Amino acid sequence: MLATEYENILVEFPADGVGLVRLNRPRAYNALNGPLMQELMDALAALDADETIGCLIITGNDKAFAAGADIAEMAQATPVELEQMGFIHRWERLREIRKPVIAAVSGYALGGGCELALACDMIVASESAVFGQPEINLGVIPGAGGTQRLTRALGKALTMEMVLNDRRLSAAEAAQFGLVNHVVPVDSYLQKAIELAASIAARAPVAVRVAKDAVNMAFEGSLAAGLAYERNHFYALFATEDQREGMAAFLEKRQPNWRGQ
Ligand code: CAA
Repeated sequence: MLATEYENILVEFPADGVGLVRLNRPRAYNALNGPLMQELMDALAALDADETIGCLIITGNDKAFAAGADIAEMAQATPVELEQMGFIHRWERLREIRKPVIAAVSGYALGGGCELALACDMIVASESAVFGQPEINLGVIPGAGGTQRLTRALGKALTMEMVLNDRRLSAAEAAQFGLVNHVVPVDSYLQKAIELAASIAARAPVAVRVAKDAVNMAFEGSLAAGLAYERNHFYALFATEDQREGMAAFLEKRQPNWRGQ
């Protein structure tokens, strides 16, 4: 789909090698309805397939990253309807993105908005960012990974408080607990995310993709399986031209010229 055909998102190319998707339903605090999620996943897949792009960013606006799943859309739904429309299943496509994805978060990251940020590989937050899982106020629980990813990131006690009692984290708290990479003023969080993305995009592409996979293994499997995965992929990278180039460049005291091969 051409970028101009999207109705709920904007796709931008703010720096060399960086593809940015901006959630664009500002009047509903970027509530994540079906059409928006479809467009978001389509756009991410297109950027993932684009050889000129090395790192992706998802952002919202200064007031809201996203205020969660669209409550109006799901309020009257039955379980079967939710299952049929793949209400949560459509999120799985995010896990298939092979390039790093950075969430640039300002304002509300609530419910599915918090889960969307958590599903990214890194988070750059503005000082006004607020992370929370308020689903308990609606008589439900997080559905797109909140109970799982928050527990892995924050531990049991704080996650319980967030999920059971709508405890929200300020940007400073999120940084203190290791949930976010950087906290910067509202007028510079996007630029910070773009700089981080451009820096990653300039690195050896195959190694970047394998490194992302290897880190994610630590969240998804046993230590033994993760160590074996890391070791085998370390060996496998010696089959790439970029390994030869990277090590030659170091020894010759020059910058490497990455070819993605
Ligand atoms: N879904 C649908 N519409 C939403 C929305 C959401 N998640 N969040 C905000 N909106 C809409 C409001 O309905 C309102 O629309 P109208 O102007 O047409 O009335 C508009 O955005 C502005 O919202 P408020 O008037 O409430 O603005 P506020 O500044 O007083 O409060 C807010 C902002 C704190 C974000 C508040 O809107 C809020 O609490 N939103 C809901 C947050 C929430 O519960 N998220 C979890 C959703 S469930 C989920 O995400 C499940 C999952 O795990 C996948």
